[in-house]
Amino acid sequence: MRPIQRLLFPEAASQSATPEHTSSTFVNNLRLPVHRWFRYSAGFSAEWVEEVIEQKKMLSDEVRLLDPFAGSGTSLLAAESRSVKAIGVESHPFIARVAQAKLEWCSDIGAYRAIIVAVRKLARELVPTLDHYPALIQKCYDRESLSQLDVLRQAWQRLADESPASSLAWLTLVAILRETSKVGTAQWQYVLPKKQKRFPREPFSAFDQLSRRIQADMIVRQALSCDRAALVQTDARTCEGVPDEWANLVVTSPPYPNNYDYADATRLEMSFMGEIAGWGDLQSTVRNYLIRSCTQHVPERSCCLDEVITSSVLRPISNDLSAVCGQLAEVRKTKGGKKTYHLMVACYFHDLARVWQALRRVCNSPCRVCFVVGDSAPYGVYVPVVPWLTGLAEAAGFRAARFERTRERNTKWKNRKHRVPLQEGRLWVEG
Ligand SMILES: C[S@@+](CC[C@H](N)C(=O)[O-])C[C@H]1O[C@@H](n2cnc3c(N)ncnc32)[C@H](O)[C@@H]1O
Repeated sequence: MRPIQRLLFPEAASQSATPEHTSSTFVNNLRLPVHRWFRYSAGFSAEWVEEVIEQKKMLSDEVRLLDPFAGSGTSLLAAESRSVKAIGVESHPFIARVAQAKLEWCSDIGAYRAIIVAVRKLARELVPTLDHYPALIQKCYDRESLSQLDVLRQAWQRLADESPASSLAWLTLVAILRETSKVGTAQWQYVLPKKQKRFPREPFSAFDQLSRRIQADMIVRQALSCDRAALVQTDARTCEGVPDEWANLVVTSPPYPNNYDYADATRLEMSFMGEIAGWGDLQSTVRNYLIRSCTQHVPERSCCLDEVITSSVLRPISNDLSAVCGQLAEVRKTKGGKKTYHLMVACYFHDLARVWQALRRVCNSPCRVCFVVGDSAPYGVYVPVVPWLTGLAEAAGFRAARFERTRERNTKWKNRKHRVPLQEGRLWVEG
């Protein structure tokens, strides 16, 4: 495969002015109005997206941004702030709902205030019923906290309708579930029932505080005039619903092939809201709609490795991919967990190949695309994500430009078997 062509975008070099570590982290968004309503650790920096938009504005009369992995809506809100049209695609039903609720920042503040007051009042009158909650929820809260959360949930459900205010009230409730839990609710994927939190928040007061913050942020944002972004709950592998040749800027961060389970990441919230009864429901309700980036998604015999690797969309990388997946299949035999990394890696690139093809349909020419990506080394076998994604992008009709490394990962991990340090960065392509 061709090496990545270097430095096709001279002006992109000025991006090194952005603090190196910021593009791939959500932390800075926690001080920004609206962005901070829901902490989504998989998110990236809104300020960095705004910089990318401003650079594109210098080259195009009209910027139309697409984020095919929109997550909690960071790039959509950034595009709105910069008065740029934007469409986001997100297929995780819970996360799409979070993003959609955040995009309601411009709705009637009075209506939101009214529903919050009504939920609060009704909650005080209701009797909590706790026995129906699954074990995970019972472990995460003491009885008093769960009672308060339960009556808030019951009240919201009784008053719920299709309005933006109702959607914002839903967000107010689901966004306080971690800070009010007494156990370790790592923002990153797992709930840790054996780890205790020292100061969990009291649910009624957390609900009140977040609702005041939401109102304050709505006032601040509504003082600006903005374009409205759209969110489509669909699959990035097809981008169904996004018009042909619509976008001239794509800023996105797909899942990495690093076994992070986006479905499990919202298990607490979805269990509390009764959307799933337990872990077993995650496959049908969430994972089936996602890029296959974790082994839970591809159990043994769920697909035929040879068929995936020899499929036409993977032709540009099939030899290299076959070698790595073969190695993973061998190493697996020596491991107790027998994780299906060999299938996951093949399916991941199959899915990403389809994403590049879908992007070619919905992107105009010229178009600039930035993928924030990271590589991985499951079972110590290095997976060269950047050159492979580059090859798939080129096969779909884009021109590779450059990879900007923003950080190294796992360098301190003493047992690391692979020689190449893992990295995260921005893959830029044009087309
Ligand atoms: C790294 S996160 C993006 C976070 C986003 N940049 C933000 O700031 O919130 C990747 C997202 O891709 C979503 N995703 C995974 N597979 C998808 C698919 N096939 N189509 C659309 N979205 C998908 C996941 O649910 C996750 O929210």
